[in-house]
Amino acid sequence: MRVCLSCSFSLGSQLVKMSRKFFVGGNWKMNGDKKSIEEIVKFLTCGPLDPNVEVVVGVPAIYLEYTKSKLPGNVAASAQNAYKEPKGAFTGEISPCQIKDVGVNWVILGHSERRNVFGESDELVADKVGHALEVGLFVIACIGEKLEEREAGKTEEVVFRQIEAISKKVCDWSKVVVAYEPVWAIGTGKTATPQQAQEVHCKLRNWFKTKLGDCAAQKIRIIYGGSVTGENSKDLAKEKDIDGFLVGGASLKPEFVDIVNSNKQTC
Ligand code: 13P
Repeated sequence: MRVCLSCSFSLGSQLVKMSRKFFVGGNWKMNGDKKSIEEIVKFLTCGPLDPNVEVVVGVPAIYLEYTKSKLPGNVAASAQNAYKEPKGAFTGEISPCQIKDVGVNWVILGHSERRNVFGESDELVADKVGHALEVGLFVIACIGEKLEEREAGKTEEVVFRQIEAISKKVCDWSKVVVAYEPVWAIGTGKTATPQQAQEVHCKLRNWFKTKLGDCAAQKIRIIYGGSVTGENSKDLAKEKDIDGFLVGGASLKPEFVDIVNSNKQTC
């Protein structure tokens, strides 16, 4: 392992960080059709993708099976949402059992667009997380503050409230990746600076320390989302508590490969 003295954190924290597999998720949101999915699959297949990175793409439900049948073996598919019940009269919803049934093992829950466009509460998100885990899915659980909350100095309060609700439904954090996505950075081109993101990630890890102990807290992957690009991902990836990314717009473009490979630091 190469270590360079100018890196922003010590050998100890670097080793701890390396013990958490870097994770890069793409969130396609409500984008894509069969033709454009073919293009995305093409650049993912050509890569090359850093083998030390876990790569998962969040696909519109209707294309999950189609995409899964085309993705290379080193990229997993994820649903973007799932309901809190296994089945029943919930028109338009899909259940974690159905996601499993088509061979998909991941789901994104609590995304800010689910919370803020579709009005999902902390409690509903938590119930969804609990049920998805019961069924055996891995979960990308999203949290993050709005601009007015940040400006009012409430970032910590908001993300702690959101993670507290989720944590009540989680027994095994190895099945959960926490995505910190400040709402003001999503789709705006205003990425959090590495320092802003690291500050919140560090607070979240400290929150986990107080709840679960140091050892468990050091194992939890906390990824950042919000206007991540091939360009800014390299600096963000250097921060000691940033374990990867959840990428929206750039996950539809070939630069997603650069984001996946951003953790290969060349000091
Ligand atoms: P952008 O990368 O387009 O800002 O979206 C982030 C996001 O919402 C990922 O879930």
